Amino acid sequence: MREMTLAEKIGQLNLLPAGEGLATGAGGGGPLGRRLSEGAVGCVFGVKSRTSARRMQEAAIAGHRLGVPLFFAEDVIHGHRTVFPLPVALACSWDMDLVETTASWAGAEARADGIHHVYAPMIDVSRDPRWGRVAESPGEDPLLASRYAQAMTKGLQGAGVAACLKHFVAYGAPQSGRDYDNATLAWEDLFESYLPPFAAGVAAKAASVMVAFNAVNKLPMHAHEALIEGWLRGACGFDGLVVSDYTGVRELQAHGLGGRAATVLRALRAGVDMDMVGEDYLAALPALAEDGIDCAESGVRATAGEVRALIDRACRRVLTFKDRAGVLDDPLRGLDGPDASPVPTPAGRRLARRAAAASAVLLKNDGPVLPLRKGARIALVGPLARARADMLGTWAVAADPAHAVTLEEAMTGRAQVRLAHGANLVDESWLADRLNVHGRTVDLDPRPETAMIAEALDRAREADVVVAALGEAKEHAGESASRLSPDLPLPQSRLLTALRDCGKPVVAVIFAGRPLALPDTPDAILYAWHGGVEGANGAADVLFGDAEPAGRLSVTLPAHPGQTPLWHGAEATGRPSPGGFRKFLTGWLDLPDGPDPTGGAWPFGFGLGYAPVRYGPPAADKAQAQGEADTIRVWVDVSNAGDRPAVETVQLYLSDPVARITRPGRQLADFRRVALAPGETRRVAFEVGVAMLRYVIAPSPETVRRVWDPGEFILHLGPNSRDLQSLQVRWLA
Ligand code: BGC
Repeated sequence: MREMTLAEKIGQLNLLPAGEGLATGAGGGGPLGRRLSEGAVGCVFGVKSRTSARRMQEAAIAGHRLGVPLFFAEDVIHGHRTVFPLPVALACSWDMDLVETTASWAGAEARADGIHHVYAPMIDVSRDPRWGRVAESPGEDPLLASRYAQAMTKGLQGAGVAACLKHFVAYGAPQSGRDYDNATLAWEDLFESYLPPFAAGVAAKAASVMVAFNAVNKLPMHAHEALIEGWLRGACGFDGLVVSDYTGVRELQAHGLGGRAATVLRALRAGVDMDMVGEDYLAALPALAEDGIDCAESGVRATAGEVRALIDRACRRVLTFKDRAGVLDDPLRGLDGPDASPVPTPAGRRLARRAAAASAVLLKNDGPVLPLRKGARIALVGPLARARADMLGTWAVAADPAHAVTLEEAMTGRAQVRLAHGANLVDESWLADRLNVHGRTVDLDPRPETAMIAEALDRAREADVVVAALGEAKEHAGESASRLSPDLPLPQSRLLTALRDCGKPVVAVIFAGRPLALPDTPDAILYAWHGGVEGANGAADVLFGDAEPAGRLSVTLPAHPGQTPLWHGAEATGRPSPGGFRKFLTGWLDLPDGPDPTGGAWPFGFGLGYAPVRYGPPAADKAQAQGEADTIRVWVDVSNAGDRPAVETVQLYLSDPVARITRPGRQLADFRRVALAPGETRRVAFEVGVAMLRYVIAPSPETVRRVWDPGEFILHLGPNSRDLQSLQVRWLA
C-alpha cells in the first residue's frame, strides 16, 4: 500500500460485473475493458468461465502498474453448475450436514470455474410470504437460520471459496413484503431475530458480508455506520471485507441522503469497502480525498485527511481479502487448462436428488394415499408436470435448464403416467410475460379452461390416483418478485376444486419459491418447493416411498394470503388469541377457526413421515436450577410405531412467561434429527442453560443488553411448533 497511488487504492474498491450475466439496479454494466487497462478494478463478478476469468486476470495484471490481480465473485446461492433446492427448501431438511455437503459441492464447482468469492449464504430471516426473496432465505427462525449460516459458511469455505453473508441486515423484513422496501422494527427484533444468523456466520469465520438495499429504522444500510462498523466489526468481531449490493452506494441518493459526494462519503465511513457496479467511489473519491467535504444539507463533513484514511482502511481490507484468498501469491491459480465441464456429474446429481427428497415436506396424507404404488395408473395433471427450468428456482445463473428433470420424467418408469395440462399456471397474459423475463418458462394454453379441466377429469377417470403438479414459476419468487397474494394462482385452485369430486384420490405436489396459502382439498400434499436440477426426482422418490419423507417446514404456511407477516414465535398480546375467532380478542374476523393459535395452516417445524412417530411424556433431571453455570437436562422418548423407517426432528421450544418486555410466545431453542427403525424407541435429550434464557433489551443499537430474569420458564418438546408437550421449570438467580 505504501507504493500505491491514491487512484490505485480507489481502483481496488471498484467491483464490476463481467457483463456476461444480468444487469439490474441503477447502473447497468460498466466499461470493464477500459477499467482493467487503467488498473481501476478490484473484483469482477459474474464471470461465466475459467477462460474469460483468465483473460480478465491477465488484462488486470497487465493494466496495473504494480500488477495487483483481481479476484472473481459469483452468485452461488443454491448450487453452481449443479443446482440444489432453494435455501428455504434445504432449510426444511433441518439437516446441517446435508446443507454443508451441498455448499461444499457448490463451492468446489465454483472454484473450478476460477471463482474466489461467492455471494452466499443468503441468511435473511423472513416472515413475509409476499417477499419473493424468502426463496433464498433459510426461513423464519433465527436459530435454524443461524445453524444454516454456519453450515453453509463451513461448506463453501472448506471447498476453498470465500463466503459472503448477506444481506446485512433485515432485508427480509421489508414494508408490506415489497422487495427493496425499508424495514421498521424494534431494535429488540433486529438483535433477536435478524442479526443472530450474521453472528453465527462470523463465528464460522465467513470472509465477507454484503450490505442490504433497505433502510433499517430510517437509515439506509449502505450508510449504517452503527451496524456495520459498530455492531458487525465492533461487537461481533468481524475482520473481513464488506461489499455493497448492486448499485447500493448509488441508491443512497434515491434514498434521499444527498448527492454523489455526500453519499459516497457516508457509505465509505459506514464501512462499505467495495462499491458494486455503480462506480460512484471511483467517480467521487478522488475529489473527496483532495478537498474533503462539508455538506450542510446532508449533514456530512470530513477533511481530506479523514477521507484518505477511510480509503486506506477500505483498500487494506480488499488487499487483505485478496491475500487470504491466495490471489496475490498465485493470481492465475486454477485458471489454466480447459473450462470446467458445465454438466452436473452423476455424483452431483445423486447429492442434489438426496437434498431434494430431504427438503420436500409432506403436509397431508389422508387415506393414506402415499406412498404411491409402483406401476399404478396415474393421471398427472397441472401446469408444472412438464416444467423443466422452473424446477431450478430463482438462482441458477451458471446452470443449463436443459439439465433439470421434469416430474413427468421422474414418474415415468415407476408408474403408468398419462398427462393433462389441466390449468394454466396463471390467468393473466401480462403476468405470464413478467414471469418469462429471464427466458420463457410459462406458456398459456389457449384452450378454454372448461376444456382443460374436462380433459383432466377424463384422465382422472382412467387412473387410480391423480397427481397435480402445481405452484409457482421460478420467476414468481426471487428478487423483485413480491406477490400481493401469496396463494395458489386461481386457475390452479379451480382445477383442484374440480378434481375434488372426481372420485379418485388427489395428491398435490407443490413446486414453489415461497410459503403459499393452499386449499385443503387434496387428499395428500407434498410441498416440494423449487428443488433444483433433481427436484422432480427427489419429489418422486418421496411420492413412491423410495425416500422417506423427513422435511419439516422452515416457514409457517399461512391459512390465508392476507395473514402476513407471520411466524411461530408471535408475541403475546393483552388479548391473546383463543385459537380461533372471538370478538375482542386477537384474531381475524374472516378466517375460519383452525387448530393453530398463530392462525397458520401448517405450522413451522411441521412435516409428516410415512411411519407414525409417538412421543412419550417429557421429563427433566430437575425442576429447579440455580445460577448462570447450572443446566437442566430434558428429554423425551420417541418411538417409531410403524413398519417403515422414519427420521424424526425433535424440537425444543422455550417460553419466558414473565419478562421486562413482551417476548415471543415461544422460541426454538434446539432440535435434533434422529433416525428410527420400525419399532425403535430412542431417548432424545437437550441441555438447557442460561444462554437460552437470555433476551435483548435495546433502546438503541448502541445500548444493547442481554439479560435474563430468574423465575418460571416453560420448556416445550414435540414434533413441530404447535403440537408440543410442556414442562415448567424454575431458574433461581
Ligand atoms: C442481489 C444480490 C446479488 C447481487 C449480484 C443483487 O441484485 O441483491 O443478492 O448478490 O445482485 O448479483
